[in-house]
Amino acid sequence: MRRKLAAGNWKMNGTAAALSELVELAGHLDPNDAETLICPPAPLLYRACEKTRGTSIAIGAQDCHMQTEGAFTGDVSASMIADTGASYVIVGHSERRDAHEETNGDIRKKARAAWAAGLTAIVCIGESGDDREADNTLDIIAGQLSGSVPDGATGDNTVIAYEPIWAIGTGKIPTLAQIIEVHDFIRARLIARFGDVEGNAIRLLYGGSVKPDNAAEIFTAENVDGALVGGASLKASDFAPIIKALSAS
Ligand code: PGA
Repeated sequence: MRRKLAAGNWKMNGTAAALSELVELAGHLDPNDAETLICPPAPLLYRACEKTRGTSIAIGAQDCHMQTEGAFTGDVSASMIADTGASYVIVGHSERRDAHEETNGDIRKKARAAWAAGLTAIVCIGESGDDREADNTLDIIAGQLSGSVPDGATGDNTVIAYEPIWAIGTGKIPTLAQIIEVHDFIRARLIARFGDVEGNAIRLLYGGSVKPDNAAEIFTAENVDGALVGGASLKASDFAPIIKALSAS
C-alpha cells in the first residue's frame, strides 16, 4: 500500500507571516489523513520546520544544487536543506527546467544529491501544450523518466510528480482519462525499470491546477497517489479540503 501524499509548493510566495498558515493547516489534520508536505521558499525552511514540529506536516525544499558544496553563489545544497530539518526536495519542476534551463541530466544529479543528504526527491515531469497537441505526451514522459530519475530509485527515496506544463497555474486540467493514461504508463515504466516491488512503491502525484473542487475526481485514479499543489496550497482553507479528499479516496 502506498501512503498518499499531499504536497504543497509555495513557489516564490510567502514571508514569515505565511507561517501562520502552517499552524492553521495542522489544526485541520488528524492522524488518519494523508501525509502532508509543504515546500516553502528556502529562507523559510528552518522556521517552517520549527513551526510544524510535533505536527503531521513535513517540510521540503523546491530545488537543490547537484553539488554538495563550493563556489556556487546563491545556490543551496541538499545537505543544507536536510540541516534545516526538511525531509523532501522537489527537483526538475517545469519552471526550473524552463527558466533555469535545467536538463534531465541536471535533474538526475540533483535527485542523487538529495538522496545522499537523506532527502526524498520529488522528480517532476510533464509535457508542454504543443507536445500534447502533437500527441507526443507519452514519448516525452518516457524520455523525462529515463533521463531524470536515477538508477536506484525506490519508494523511500523518490516520488514522481506528473505535471502537464499547460495545466500549471492555468485552471485547465487534463481529463480524468488522460490523467489515468499517463499515470498508468509511468507505473508500467517504473515496474519495467525498477522491478515489481520498488516500481509499485514509488508514489505518483498529479500536479497542475488541483483545486478543492476537482481534487476528489482526480484521486479516483488508481495510480494517482496524491497531488503536487501550487496556488491552492498557499491558504490552509484551500489546501485542507484537498488533503481531506485525498485521505478519503
Ligand atoms: P498550480 O501549480 O497548482 O498552481 O497549477 C502546480 C505546480 O506547479 O506544482
